[in-house]
Amino acid sequence: MDESTEDRYAFVHADICDTEAVKNVFETYEIDTICHFAAESHVDRSIVAPDAFVNTNILGTFTLLEEARRHLNRLKRFHHVSTDEVYGSLGKEGFFSETTPYDPSSPYSASKAASDHLVRAYHRTYNIPVTISNCSNNYGPYQFPEKLIPLMILNGLAGKPLPVYGKGINVRDWLFVQDHCRAVWTIMQNGRPGETYNIGGECEIPNIELVQTLCDILDEMVPSGHNRPRSDLITFVNDRPGHDFRYAIDCTKLKTELLWQPLASFGTGIRKTVQWYLDNPAWVQRVQSGEYREWIADNYDRRG
Ligand code: DAU
Repeated sequence: MDESTEDRYAFVHADICDTEAVKNVFETYEIDTICHFAAESHVDRSIVAPDAFVNTNILGTFTLLEEARRHLNRLKRFHHVSTDEVYGSLGKEGFFSETTPYDPSSPYSASKAASDHLVRAYHRTYNIPVTISNCSNNYGPYQFPEKLIPLMILNGLAGKPLPVYGKGINVRDWLFVQDHCRAVWTIMQNGRPGETYNIGGECEIPNIELVQTLCDILDEMVPSGHNRPRSDLITFVNDRPGHDFRYAIDCTKLKTELLWQPLASFGTGIRKTVQWYLDNPAWVQRVQSGEYREWIADNYDRRG
């Protein structure tokens, strides 16, 4: 971040369910535009402990919407970032479009579906200028190692088992994080209020194929020294309950209306991602040890 950016940026470490903190931020910084990324996002965690998902994803969104409503006169945009998981599971054929009926499978996706409904209702009832985006699986730098790709990279580097759920035949549509961010920015600037836009990477890969690719890249970039391929570490484990079979996004609306398209090829994006984890061992250590919580507290004021 250069000096001119630093002047125009403030980080407030607070809970979006904390009404007072949210109120203070809106007032202190005279907020007129909201891009709401904050969420509990991991399906497996939601299966074990759904409470946090209901709180953050539903009540947290409600808190932000209420504050937006209080400042409706100056509000230019409330953008809500959501997921393709609200649509449920696809079979071998077909794609999710913006008109696919909601059919969530996990406490996580149900909580995101509820938040989407609240956001839409606040548009219809209070005329809040909202937009919603529903994206497919992200990958790239800084992803928390609970998710498939960073988990496999870090376990592969450490020589630990690579747990693949079920038979590894589930399919995800992979979207490079910078393509996702460009899409969100495009929608915030030019999307029509009240509209939903699907964002996908147009890159469907069955899990087992993806894990195999990661093993090959790791073997090439960091030879293991044991003369054994990393794919020997692949371990098939019990399937995730309610595991959605396939996600695939039709993002024609975003492409034709707002002229966005994914730019990263999976081949380039995945290598950049592996390289990022290799280049950032201090970040990995902070996150894996849980030390990042103290680090955030030490490095940022709790302002607002
Ligand atoms: O589709 C968008 C969603 O993508 C986001 O809304 C979620 O926040 C995000 O977590 C992601 O959900 P998934 O459940 O698809 O992501 P995850 O990385 O947990 O798993 C990807 C696939 O890999 C899924 O089919 C489950 C499988 N998997 C995952 C893990 C963590 C494994 O086989 N083994 C694993 O250890």
